[in-house]
Amino acid sequence: MRDHNGEDRSITAQGMRRDFGGLHAVDGVDLEIPGGRIFGFLGPNGAGKSTLVKILTTILNPTAGRATVAGYDVQKQGGKVRKAIGVALQDVGLDPLMTARELLMLQSELFGTPRSEARKTAERLLATVGLDDVDPKKRSGAYSGGMKRRLDLALALVNDPRILFLDEPTTGLDPASRAAIWEEVRRLNDELGMTIFLTTQYLEEADRLADEVAIISKGKIVAQGTPSDLKREVGDEVVELQFGSCEDAASADDALAAMAPSRQHSDRELRLYFGHAAENVPKLVRVLDGAGIRLQGLTIEQPSLDDVFLRVTGEALEHEVDEAGDGGSATPASSAAGAPPPGDNERAEVMS
Ligand SMILES: Nc1ncnc2c1ncn2[C@@H]1O[C@H](COP(=O)(O)OP(=O)(O)OP(=O)(O)O)[C@@H](O)[C@H]1O
Ligand SMILES: [Mg+2]
Repeated sequence: MRDHNGEDRSITAQGMRRDFGGLHAVDGVDLEIPGGRIFGFLGPNGAGKSTLVKILTTILNPTAGRATVAGYDVQKQGGKVRKAIGVALQDVGLDPLMTARELLMLQSELFGTPRSEARKTAERLLATVGLDDVDPKKRSGAYSGGMKRRLDLALALVNDPRILFLDEPTTGLDPASRAAIWEEVRRLNDELGMTIFLTTQYLEEADRLADEVAIISKGKIVAQGTPSDLKREVGDEVVELQFGSCEDAASADDALAAMAPSRQHSDRELRLYFGHAAENVPKLVRVLDGAGIRLQGLTIEQPSLDDVFLRVTGEALEHEVDEAGDGGSATPASSAAGAPPPGDNERAEVMS
């Protein structure tokens, strides 16, 4: 699978499995990622994302299955894989006593780069990730979380990789640092054609960055496609209803079951998936009136990847990136199967 530069930047996996004792952390994953894509791997805590990244980057052996990265078998040609890839793992492991330049030069020299060349690489990469104006004497231990992530990204780039693995590169970062990483990921992909394999718990991150998304839950891929394809599968429009109490929302869930077979209920909210939302609104208001259930608010919107996630896993993931940068809280939700027929996309505040 060579691209126009004659280089293979693809990632494939067949029947990939990794057990820890009786636990199937990665449970039969198949992947076919052509070169030059940004591939987003989305899943909650413990879904198996890091385990898969470690297998693909030759850090961990699979229990079963086969995978190739840059055209090389991860188990039989580990050395070749490592030369072709850059990796920023979830737990940033920087020697706290070393400065950014020392770390970058050391990493560069480990790949066999002569010292003078390594120095140039270090300067170039510090500029790339926006750390060139930091006091050169500052040790990495004194860096903020966002600066450490950026330095870790620079370290992953020292060997000019054709494929970059980023395991939750923005978790815990403030919005500005997160935006800086997104911009850099896009640039590496656009300008250098680098394949980027990125794991995330943030739906918004997957939605904004990835050409293609796979949703992983309990070691298995439960949905895969472009973000817009995945959203379209859920339905074209969502009517979100707000109620004054959880009891009202639960009663509404029952009352509307017949007219809206595809629903998600969480706390005081109910989300109904329709091909055409507006034409169903008068009827659903009548049904609620008839059942004596008071509606506090109603919004029509387009489905999000959150809706996809809820539908395929029955659980809520983190919500969109929030101000605190911790991804917000996840709310448990019940799911109802069945996607409505397609219709027009529009967004309207009907009542609030
Ligand atoms: N070395 C290990 N020994 C035993 N169990 C492990 C090991 N590594 C991972 N696991 C288990 O495998 C499952 C998948 O873990 P993994 O780290 O791949 O999840 P993740 O999707 O990366 O989660 P997170 O978003 O929290 O980073 C979890 O149940 C985890 O506890
Ligand atoms: Mg992880």
